[in-house]
Amino acid sequence: MKIEGLKVLVTGGAGFIGSHLVDRLVDASCQVIVLDNLSTGKLENIAHHLTPNGKVRLVKADIRNVELVNQLVKDCQVVFHEAAVVGVKRYVENPIDVIEVNVLGTHNILEAARKHDVERLILASTSEVYGKNIKAPLSEGDDRVLGPTYIDRWCYSTSKALDEHLVIGYHRRYGLKPVILRYFNVYGPRQECSAYGGVVSRFIAQALTGRDLTVFGDGKQTRCFTYIEDIVEGTIRAAEVDEAIGKILNLGSTNETKIIDLAHLVIKLAGVEGKVKPIYIPYEKFYGRWYEDLPRRVPDVSEASKILGFSSKTNLVEGLRETIEWYKRNFNRLSEITL
Ligand SMILES: NC(=O)c1ccc[n+]([C@@H]2O[C@H](COP(=O)([O-])OP(=O)(O)OC[C@H]3O[C@@H](n4cnc5c(N)ncnc54)[C@H](O)[C@@H]3O)[C@@H](O)[C@H]2O)c1
Repeated sequence: MKIEGLKVLVTGGAGFIGSHLVDRLVDASCQVIVLDNLSTGKLENIAHHLTPNGKVRLVKADIRNVELVNQLVKDCQVVFHEAAVVGVKRYVENPIDVIEVNVLGTHNILEAARKHDVERLILASTSEVYGKNIKAPLSEGDDRVLGPTYIDRWCYSTSKALDEHLVIGYHRRYGLKPVILRYFNVYGPRQECSAYGGVVSRFIAQALTGRDLTVFGDGKQTRCFTYIEDIVEGTIRAAEVDEAIGKILNLGSTNETKIIDLAHLVIKLAGVEGKVKPIYIPYEKFYGRWYEDLPRRVPDVSEASKILGFSSKTNLVEGLRETIEWYKRNFNRLSEITL
């Protein structure tokens, strides 16, 4: 199936990943409905498409609104389900919202997709599903390893795993045609850079506003940072390639980077060497008591490579340069910064 010219629904389409997806769908002449309550998404992320003859319609509403979700899905051939409560600090501050939005919201989307026979449903899932399994690299069939339920951090992982179970259930029972994508640490322009945002955007915001970069723990923990364009490319292909139906696929870079090295790289690329420095903060001070971290997380992307032809093409320096330049041009976004 080619995405060109189709009618698509993007939940969370005003958010970081969703809005880049919308750009790409508009380029492919799709008619796009964005369903977003603008809780973390921003009008300015998609404002350039909201012109009278534009191909994008924004519906500012909640994915938990059953009737509305039904109406919107009815008109669409493909659903990209990106809306969720995202951000580690939110998981530890508000686990109830995380579970309600991520699980009940997804259930609504799936029910509507089943009723109206959508041709493809893409679920934005996450590497968090693997929990603290330190096997490297992590394949889609690997175990989930989680801490106890009094550690709030795991509520997001659990909510997304429940989404995956629901999606697989709908595929097996009703013949829904879904693809589950596990994104690994996505970064790029438009990502939230407040205390709730990702580490890359937080570091960039700190560097560009002359603040020291706050590194949690000893900074030796690693992540695989994946540039937004590569994620969008993989997400579009997932909608197009029939062999992906019913599959779970990791989408991520395989380049493992220590957080402390990321901090030094951002300082260098932002041109603020000697002006700011990394400072170490205990996890507990930032996230409170109900948090635990994981030392590393590396994806095995051989399935996505085989099925979708996916690879993470943008190297970290290149992606960081693009992102830093964007924040410099959009300095107003740095007002989000809270630490
Ligand atoms: N950014 C990452 O590194 C990453 C990694 C793995 C998975 N993901 C997944 O990708 C998706 C997009 O994440 P993002 O990084 O763009 O975050 P984001 O916060 O920028 O986007 C989420 C969007 O969902 C909207 N939203 C939240 N609750 C809603 C509700 N109840 N009703 C309607 N809209 C609602 C928000 O306003 C926002 O626009 C999420 O499903 C997330 O779990 C992201």
